[in-house]
This record gives sequence, structure tokens and C-alpha cells, in this order.
Amino acid sequence: MTDRFKQQPRQREYDDPDESVRPLPLLFYVFAAAMIVWGAWYIIDPQGNASGERGSPMLGDRRTLSALAAAPVGEVNGAQLFTGKCAGCHQATGQGVAGVFPPLVGVDWVTGSETRLVQILLHGIQGALDVNGVTYNGVMPAWKSLTDAEIAALASYVRSTWGNSASQVSVATVAEQRELTASRTSPYNGSAELDTLP
Ligand code: HEC
Repeated sequence: MTDRFKQQPRQREYDDPDESVRPLPLLFYVFAAAMIVWGAWYIIDPQGNASGERGSPMLGDRRTLSALAAAPVGEVNGAQLFTGKCAGCHQATGQGVAGVFPPLVGVDWVTGSETRLVQILLHGIQGALDVNGVTYNGVMPAWKSLTDAEIAALASYVRSTWGNSASQVSVATVAEQRELTASRTSPYNGSAELDTLP
């Protein structure tokens, strides 16, 4: 037997490797503590926006309440909303789909009475609808879950795009129309009922 062989049992019984001989560096703890303090401050401190105005930290993108209240109602908003909510049926060009979804271009429902258009958007339509001599018989969803400003932006957008050039619809008009028909829960019954609206 060699010496080396005799030592083998002892070698097996060495302690398991242990990390405590190399603890995390102190700098790491300092860094972690600094991050926690900074995070707490970031949440608690009401964030000012770029111009130093103070707002609610709930508004994570730092817009203040006053800036939000004055959010523009017009082409930009309306166009975005139209793409998200309407273009799927009426198409991005507002031309609709023949026989299924009516066009919004050169159509009196869109460019005529603004209050009637607001009513269409608030409550939707179901039933035979005459659009420039073509009868549609589909379902136009109700959009009353949108805000007054959103409906005003949508109505203004469809009235002034693709060659349409009717007046803009104000937020106040939408609020008034919503109030007027607050108890309504069903869609308008096609041209028959819509023709009775002012
Ligand atoms: C699910 C498909 C669908 C969506 C989404 C939709 N519509 Fe309609 N819309 C219709 C249908 C179908 C009609 C015709 C209803 C009928 O035949 O009674 C219609 C009719 C209309 C009318 C009156 C008819 C005309 O051609 O002018 C207007 C105005 C209108 N929609 C605007 C909008 C706007 C604005 C939006 C987005 C907020 C929108 N629609 C979203 C399907 C849709």
C-alpha cells in the first residue's frame, strides 16, 4: 500500500464547501439599501412634470390633472378612436363594405343633423336603415360607454374626413344628448325611428 492510498479515506471526510468564507460585498448591501430608499421616495414624492408643475403620483406619465382636462378633442383623438372602434366595420376609408357595413362618406346620417349622429353613436341602430337609397339591415353597436369627449371627437372626425365637411360636434352637445336619452337601453329601430329625430 502506498502512502497516497492510505490518505484517501481522510480526504473524503473534508468539510463540504461553504460560501460563508466569501460573503456578499458590503458595497452590495449599501447599493440595495440605496435602491430601496430611492424607490420609496419615488413612489411617495408627487412627481412634477417637465415644467415643474406638481401633479398626482397616480398619473404615472407625469401629466397633471389640468393637462388631462384640457386634452385636445379633434382630429388626432377622433382618428385614433375611429381606427380602434369603427374601422373594423366601416373601414379606414369610411367606405364601409357593400351590403354589410354602410359608408360614412357623403351620407346624410353623418353630415346632417349632429344631434341625430350623436344619438346613433350613443345607442346604436338595429333594423332596416336607408343609406343613400340602399337598405342595410345590420346591427350598429352602441357606444355610450365612451366619454362625451370621445363621442364628440368621433362625431367630429367622421363629419370632417374623407371629403365630408360638416361642423364639429361639441362635448356639450354630446353631454346634452346623453342626458336627454339617459333612460334609453335599446338601439334605434332603423330609419323608421331615426327619421323622427330632429
Ligand atoms: C360591428 C360593426 C360596426 C362597428 C364597430 C361600427 N359600426 Fe357603425 N354601423 C354598422 C352597421 C351594420 C350599420 C347599419 C345599421 C343598420 O343596418 O341598421 C352602421 C351604421 C352607422 C351609421 C349610420 C349609417 C351611415 O352609413 O352613416 C353611422 C353614422 C355609424 N355607423 C358610425 C359608426 C362609428 C362612428 C363607429 C365607431 C364608433 C361605428 N359606426 C362602429 C356597423 C358597425
